[in-house]
Amino acid sequence: MCSDCSSGRRAMARLLLTGAGLTALAACTPNPAQQEAPAAGSSVAGTSASSGSSAPASTTSSAPGSPTASAAPSSGTSAKSPSAPAPSTTTAAAAPPSAALRLPKQYSLNAPTSPWVIVNKHRPLKPANFVPPNLVQPKVALAVTGEAAQLNSTTAAAAERMFAAAAADGVTMTLASGYRSYATQTVTYNGYVSSQGRAAADTASARPGHSEHQTGWAFDIGDGGGACSFQPCFAEQPAAVWAKANAHRFGFVVRYPWMQHTITGYFYESWHLRYIGVEAATDMRKRGIATLEEYFGVEAAPGYR
Ligand code: DAL
Ligand code: ZN
Repeated sequence: MCSDCSSGRRAMARLLLTGAGLTALAACTPNPAQQEAPAAGSSVAGTSASSGSSAPASTTSSAPGSPTASAAPSSGTSAKSPSAPAPSTTTAAAAPPSAALRLPKQYSLNAPTSPWVIVNKHRPLKPANFVPPNLVQPKVALAVTGEAAQLNSTTAAAAERMFAAAAADGVTMTLASGYRSYATQTVTYNGYVSSQGRAAADTASARPGHSEHQTGWAFDIGDGGGACSFQPCFAEQPAAVWAKANAHRFGFVVRYPWMQHTITGYFYESWHLRYIGVEAATDMRKRGIATLEEYFGVEAAPGYR
């Protein structure tokens, strides 16, 4: 726990948002609500720009309610069928059946351009230096500039709809960290390692090539400069409360939920949203499934192998 470090975390968040870098990160032992820093070099303010709206690449489809192996994409990268054996190459918990196979449209779990790509400590991006081909800057309130203000075009369009709905409900929401290149993630992760050590860093920041931010499908939200940005207390702020209740309507999930670190590999990040599409996000919520690993039937990834 690091309850006495909250003021240090706030100070660090301010430093990070003003581009002061990561090297001064407070040397706190992460607790189950450890924060994630925005991209190194991010800066405050910026302007919005237009976004595209390309649809995610579909693979194959199957009849709803009839999950079978044949319903999965032929590449072997799909959600596992309920009868599929658990992976044998891990000491993590066995993979659960995939509820996602009940959805009519199926997407790859491996291709970084797929809305269902699962990136975690067992599933690095391939290629490691992947760059989304369709990065755009969404027309939303921005707390960053440069690459961190970008998302892939599908995620950007969904984010625009979600931010507008939040605003209509009187909730201030900002884009606090979007796309991060392999190089940026290297700087971000190394900053954590320098200040906290590798073990602690690994509970809050993905190693280069293992971050959802590099896919363009994920981003962090802020609330316009509140003291809780990237802090445990962000979970109680209107932006996070609203997102937790409504993000699924726009295709997003809170990717690293409370107390699911033994599955996701990361402590609670109430600010980190991941696009998987409205159908899947709504279905996950309806079924009460907390993590992508469980929903898509892949093994838990608590640590690197
Ligand atoms: N904080 C998340 C895990 C990332 O670095 O991508
Ligand atoms: Zn994040």
